[in-house]
Amino acid sequence: MISLTAEQETLLIPLYDKATMKEIIDDPTAASIVAQVDYDFSALRQPWVTRATLAMRARKLDQCVRDHPAPLVLHLGCGLDARVDRVAPAQGTRWYDVDFPQVIELRRRFYRETADNRMIGSSVTDHSWMAQVDGEGPALVIAEGLLMYLHVAEVKALVLALRDRFPGGQIAFDAFTTFVTRRMSRHPSLRKTGAQVHWGVDDPMEITRWAPGLELAEEWTFGDPTALTGLGPLRRMQMKAMFALPVARHTHRILRYRLGA
Ligand SMILES: C[S@@+](CC[C@H](N)C(=O)[O-])C[C@H]1O[C@@H](n2cnc3c(N)ncnc32)[C@H](O)[C@@H]1O
Repeated sequence: MISLTAEQETLLIPLYDKATMKEIIDDPTAASIVAQVDYDFSALRQPWVTRATLAMRARKLDQCVRDHPAPLVLHLGCGLDARVDRVAPAQGTRWYDVDFPQVIELRRRFYRETADNRMIGSSVTDHSWMAQVDGEGPALVIAEGLLMYLHVAEVKALVLALRDRFPGGQIAFDAFTTFVTRRMSRHPSLRKTGAQVHWGVDDPMEITRWAPGLELAEEWTFGDPTALTGLGPLRRMQMKAMFALPVARHTHRILRYRLGA
């Protein structure tokens, strides 16, 4: 088994949710990988709400890829996620899965690289990985469960570098508020892995002030009715009650921005 750092080990958290929350997301690849990996997933002690919201996050980001087709998709901090299988992008779409070299080494045990689906082993904070992307022009960038592990200066530098390299594209990612970021180390799954989260954002408009051309296109929360699809009546009620207050709804949400030049 390849040894993973604390931040890398977090990839097993959403992988397990995609494998098991079948009422929310259908992911046979995740189920097959979970069955093959020698890891005690019960040690993550994920509450139901974490499992549900991470599966909903994945489903929403899949929908973003379907709704905003782009000839180039950059899937940052991909872990062992099977988005490329779930979404099945149009032929000719060039799809790049990017994560640390150790994670990509692990990923290669489960996924085959093809001419249209390439893997890049690099930290996203070392922008030289962008030189390995074949093609110019607008890209759809997806970062699921990634940016909170970076520091604000790294997030900002990454967003600006993506805007410069792939002008006219979009980026979609999930983000915590600063309040939640400060408390995330208490979450049982993060305690198990030892991973630290660093970045959170309270006002999504803050990012638009980082550089001209950055525009907020969408803010989606777990209070959105589309989040509830697939849940039974009791779970729906539970989710509605949990996310009834705006302050609760905004603790963790998906943001999409246009990366205008
Ligand atoms: C919570 S996991 C999410 C994995 C995947 N996106 C998913 O949702 O299944 C976080 C991922 O981000 C990756 N990651 C964290 N910091 C990174 C960095 N600086 N560069 C590249 N990947 C990073 C980790 O290796 C891990 O695979």
